[in-house]
Amino acid sequence: MAFPPGFLDEIRARVSVSDVVGRSVKLTKRGREHSGLCPFHNEKTPSFTVNDDKAFYHCFGCGAHGDVIKFMTEKHGLGFVEAVTQLAGEAGLEMPQQRASDRAAEQVARGLIDLMEDAAIWFQALLAGQPGAAARDYLDRRALRAQTIATFQLGFAPDGRQRLRQAMLAKGWTDGQLIETGLAILPEGGGEPYDRFRGRIMFPIRDMRGRCIAFGGRAMAADAKAKYLNSPETPLFHKGRTLYNVHQARKAAYDTGQLIIAEGYMDVIAMAQAGFAAAVAPLGTAVTEDQLMLLWRMADEPILCFDGDKAGLRAAARALDRALPLLKPGRSLRFAILPDGKDPDDLIKAEGAPAFAQLLDRAEPLAKMLWSFVASGKDISTPERRAALQRQAYDQVKQIADPTVRSHYESDVRERVRAAFKPRNTQRGGGYQFVNRKTTPRSDLNTSHLGRSDSDFPASALFEKVVVKTILNHPKLISTQLETLAELEIRQKDLQNALDAILSAYPTMEGLDSQAQKDNLLRRVPKPLVDELQRDIFLKTLSFTRPNVDTWQAEAGLGHTLMLHGRVLALLDESAEIEKSVVSQGEKAVAQFNALQAKLVEQNKELAAFDQQLSVSIA
Ligand code: UTP
Ligand code: MN
Repeated sequence: MAFPPGFLDEIRARVSVSDVVGRSVKLTKRGREHSGLCPFHNEKTPSFTVNDDKAFYHCFGCGAHGDVIKFMTEKHGLGFVEAVTQLAGEAGLEMPQQRASDRAAEQVARGLIDLMEDAAIWFQALLAGQPGAAARDYLDRRALRAQTIATFQLGFAPDGRQRLRQAMLAKGWTDGQLIETGLAILPEGGGEPYDRFRGRIMFPIRDMRGRCIAFGGRAMAADAKAKYLNSPETPLFHKGRTLYNVHQARKAAYDTGQLIIAEGYMDVIAMAQAGFAAAVAPLGTAVTEDQLMLLWRMADEPILCFDGDKAGLRAAARALDRALPLLKPGRSLRFAILPDGKDPDDLIKAEGAPAFAQLLDRAEPLAKMLWSFVASGKDISTPERRAALQRQAYDQVKQIADPTVRSHYESDVRERVRAAFKPRNTQRGGGYQFVNRKTTPRSDLNTSHLGRSDSDFPASALFEKVVVKTILNHPKLISTQLETLAELEIRQKDLQNALDAILSAYPTMEGLDSQAQKDNLLRRVPKPLVDELQRDIFLKTLSFTRPNVDTWQAEAGLGHTLMLHGRVLALLDESAEIEKSVVSQGEKAVAQFNALQAKLVEQNKELAAFDQQLSVSIA
């Protein structure tokens, strides 16, 4: 449309470029000019300037140049008329009259997207202005930098039921449009529509192309009824098909090859602020198939980064279930589950970006996660239980539609089942994994190492002694457990040395008879250690460790010991983790810790009980 002469100049005169630009670019005033990082190209040092006197902006880096209207069209993607309309609103200028029919048609053509954009800009302006003071404080307390707030175009919806509605009506939007976009709610009992979002920090939700299609609104009070309120499903917004921050993450994912899926808005924002720009989140629902497909368009192995609490683990398990049928060669997910009680926002704040990068580095492949979910916390002490576990794992694998991927998963599960039933301890406990333990990033830097040293843990020391004593007395068993023994993690130095000596000598003596083998081995282990093992009171109570029992008895006892040893190491790891949190979590953690210690004691008792059964059965 054509504007009357002078109308555009009037706008340029009334609206300051630095105000408009300053909403999305952090500007620093220098004399009569403002400068900042150019929003039109990537740069590290500012070459973008704004001059209010001359009413234009100019970038010495990329040559971008224009007035307020051009800025709105170039930076915010508005049409010329829309830009003018909006700026006129801000300038308090009446839009020149058009014919009624023109206006109706134009409004339809502008579409709901433009209304959303208007609302986003309005929310943004409110956050920047006086009504947003408390909201800015809140964001400040949450350590969001101004640049981050600008990048995510956060805004503020003020209290009051008519604020946005009136502002949008004034811009020519209708109640019908406000209701259709979910910005306003029509009371069921009749009466005037009112604003959906009130007293909330506003997060514009954008589609792939960067168009605002919905909002999330976070309450600032800790006791608010709904922490987050999201736009309802509208003609623009289908929450199951959208990911928060997809438009910005897409490019970053393309650049870095990495893509993170977080649980919530604030996680995404905290990640971006810490330099992980390729982060998205679902919108208050479980990850859907559509969202997975969207993720895989951006990266082959997106990393799911969820909390280690119940809700987070459940959400991760559901995402895994959804992903299985969709896996393809080379296309999968990885899982970086956070330590209990923390979300990415907390972790980054507490330990910084490097700790977070490390967490991502250690993300588990989907196959491993599948096994962890199936096996975690399961008691597999009987053949029937082991069979049930195996069945469950295979049932999961059957969900995989792609035959090549499926067959690889089948062998993977077979391998894990095998390892679990015959614990190998290079990975501490092999199959006896506890989700919390295996997926908890241990930051070795600040672990107290309490309880993880060699000597102060009789719990694992006992099992180590049992192993060494039993094979010294029954060298024939070495060949049946060679692999497991070779990978066994022994924490007591002298015992580890003894085991190493035994295992390295063993191949040279395979032809010898039992007695010769025994004599041979005894020469390789320091005498005081041998004596200690033979004298140890508790070991004496375990009949299968003695030289004079049948080989099968010793073998059963050794097998059981190795299995329990794996479990004990897992418990020790878990207990070290909990110990770390005792300080911060107080009594609850103490109780947890005590329960764990009790479990450790139980393992000792179980070994004695098992031995008793063995003795009874031969008697
Ligand atoms: P979180 O409670 O983890 O939110 O919920 P968050 O993003 O970490 O936010 P802060 O740190 O508490 O500010 C994860 C996501 O679940 C949805 C939102 O999408 C949120 O980002 N959610 C949560 C809702 O839709 N409604 C709610 O009441 C809570
Ligand atoms: Mn959070």
